[in-house]
Amino acid sequence: MRYQSNTETINSLRYTNTYLTPTKTIQGYPGALKQRINNVKINNKGSDEYYTPPEALEPLLSRLDKQLVYYEATSGVSSAIVDYMKENGFSVVGSEGRDFLLDELPEFDAVLTNPPYSIRDKFIEKCYELDKPFALLLPVNTLQGVRRGKYFKTGLELIVFNNRISFTEDGVKPHFGVAWFCKDLLKEKLEFIL
Ligand SMILES: C[S@@+](CC[C@H](N)C(=O)[O-])C[C@H]1O[C@@H](n2cnc3c(N)ncnc32)[C@H](O)[C@@H]1O
Repeated sequence: MRYQSNTETINSLRYTNTYLTPTKTIQGYPGALKQRINNVKINNKGSDEYYTPPEALEPLLSRLDKQLVYYEATSGVSSAIVDYMKENGFSVVGSEGRDFLLDELPEFDAVLTNPPYSIRDKFIEKCYELDKPFALLLPVNTLQGVRRGKYFKTGLELIVFNNRISFTEDGVKPHFGVAWFCKDLLKEKLEFIL
């Protein structure tokens, strides 16, 4: 049971349920973020350890069926999505450290997560392989690409955020915009959140 993008120390964070925000990049880790959480070191790609704020969840949740059981596939470090969904009356199962790509998964109706962007293609492929409905929060430019296009053309619904969303407590916004990339969950194929 190993995350591919993390060092093995992340496995000891398996049952940690904390809303965490990475704050600094350490020199000497080019393209990577090194942080200490609950006194445990983790090394991740800088784009992987960001946590989903309510403003990114609300437009999606308001369009989802509360009768379904959702699987938050990346809640091993941060349970921000799981907590917010439960508070709002959704049935959600957390990953609790399971590797989405390698481990056996529990029963659920649909995947809902903010995947690590450095391995987004693997998450996209896995969702289509599972052949279940899904909602993945991804950079808008994920739309382009031969490898992804092969999957997307078999079905995709989008909720696009026209404003950029901040994923850190300091309110700084990333240079990219995000969208919910969904399949078999939404009534509309394309919606914009202004
Ligand atoms: C963008 S963060 C989102 C975290 C949390 N789900 C949220 O939205 O607040 C992506 C998370 O995926 C985790 N992760 C990386 N590889 C994974 C894998 N193969 N299976 C499950 N989680 C993974 C990372 O440790 C990171 O916490």
